[in-house]
Amino acid sequence: MKIVLTGAAGRLGGICREPLSKMCDELVSTDRVDSIDGLAANETYVKCDIGEREPVHALLEGADMVVHFGSIADEAPWGDILHSNILSAYNIWESAYQHGVKRIVFASSIHAVGMHKKHDFIGVDAAHRPDTYYGLAKCFTEDLASLYWDKRGLETVAMRIASASGKVCNSRALGSWLSDGDLVQLVQKSVTAPTTGFTIVYGVSNNDRAGLDNSGASALGYRPKDNAEEFAAEILANAPPQNNQDPEDMCHGGPFAVVPLGESGVEMIKARSVKT
Ligand SMILES: NC(=O)c1ccc[n+]([C@@H]2O[C@H](COP(=O)([O-])OP(=O)(O)OC[C@H]3O[C@@H](n4cnc5c(N)ncnc54)[C@H](O)[C@@H]3O)[C@@H](O)[C@H]2O)c1
Repeated sequence: MKIVLTGAAGRLGGICREPLSKMCDELVSTDRVDSIDGLAANETYVKCDIGEREPVHALLEGADMVVHFGSIADEAPWGDILHSNILSAYNIWESAYQHGVKRIVFASSIHAVGMHKKHDFIGVDAAHRPDTYYGLAKCFTEDLASLYWDKRGLETVAMRIASASGKVCNSRALGSWLSDGDLVQLVQKSVTAPTTGFTIVYGVSNNDRAGLDNSGASALGYRPKDNAEEFAAEILANAPPQNNQDPEDMCHGGPFAVVPLGESGVEMIKARSVKT
């Protein structure tokens, strides 16, 4: 089996490289940086801007599966999102179809439904309700994947990752955390499930406070092992009070529910932590 991994130089792609290399005969890791370190024996690296059509077509030749993590992972100006998160999606799904790829495992995001209220306890069938251009691009990609399943038989597992920053750093993460170990398990199950059609799952750990109905993930065999609750006492002791009129506290998108369109949510959070 040959797997192509996009976004291989990023945080989550980097975590998945070694486990994926053990699941296939050939792993082709790709990103737009010049090189990455620590290639496995069966892993090659190809530099590729996935917003460009022809290089992506060449990249996917002979692939059985694509694990698609490459994108701007933040809110950004429209032109940047269009290139790296929307045109790239078309390039990948269309090339995958032309090359007969069986399945794409896609890092979607909670920000596709980020304006839904946490207390509504949404499932994977909640209407798209993006909080940013970034979330809108995840909506587009999920719909593209649905279309390519319905019309062309190309399978996708869209993992709506909630927050995968390694540690549980704030009260939002008590519900939204996806541990690195559970991320790897979810990717592995998404690759090995015999059939998936077009499936959406939430990428969350087994958190007591998860405001999401992820019961359908069991169909993939996903059994998350970690639970952010073990950090709750410490996090809540230092957390500011929640404001039930503030979309940041009330919506699944958290800070992305209030960041101005086109401006970096990551930079907004950093600027605040410098101030406080
Ligand atoms: N980290 C999270 O909490 C989280 C939550 C939800 C979804 N996701 C999604 O998971 C994926 C990985 O996230 P991450 O946290 O590892 O982000 P990251 O920024 O560390 O990695 C993303 C990678 O994509 C690459 N990339 C961006 N544009 C590209 C282009 N045009 N061509 C080729 N490569 C390009 C970047 O160079 C980077 O290495 C992203 O799709 C992100 O939207 C992450």
